Amino acid sequence: MLKKIVLIFIAGIILVWQSFAGTANALSLNEDIRTIPLNEQGETVTLTNQQAQKGAKLFGANCAQCHIQGKTKTNPNVTLSEDSLAYALPARDNLLGLVDYIKNPTSYDGEEDLSLLHMNTGVPELWSEIRNYTEEDIKDVAGYILIQVNADPKWGKLSLIDN
Ligand code: HEC
Repeated sequence: MLKKIVLIFIAGIILVWQSFAGTANALSLNEDIRTIPLNEQGETVTLTNQQAQKGAKLFGANCAQCHIQGKTKTNPNVTLSEDSLAYALPARDNLLGLVDYIKNPTSYDGEEDLSLLHMNTGVPELWSEIRNYTEEDIKDVAGYILIQVNADPKWGKLSLIDN
């Protein structure tokens, strides 16, 4: 009888351990996917799983209502797809370019300041949602966008043949 209880107890521990290991696995992205362009010069940076998760959380809370799956609800021409980011002026397909947009958004041709129209941290009195973002938060949410470009071939696209 005691032996049975001990066995059931051990089986229980193994089960709990496995489910924890499983969760950790499900949340971790491989290094290739976490390696993203840093700047226009082509340098790269590898974010940690923690940064990726923080970025995902912030994106879900503050950006997804307009940018679900990388699309842009109110302007389908300017999305978060790799191509859309790459052809913006200045280019936004790298971490520093996106960080700059979150601090000071500009029109696609770079000609107009959008800081009164698109949420940003540069005008905190207007955009309370992201007013408390730290430098790290800005980097993580920007990084998440580029991780999604790596991870999801449909990110920002209406269909797979669309750009
Ligand atoms: C209320 C809707 C809305 C919210 C919320 C929003 N955006 Fe946007 N976003 C837009 C629109 C509209 C555009 C296109 C602006 C334009 O006309 O150039 C845009 C454009 C962008 C671009 C430029 C994309 C490109 O291809 O050049 C980036 C980057 C971006 N948003 C990031 C974010 C991030 C990060 C957040 C969350 C912190 C966010 N947006 C929240 C509506 C939104």
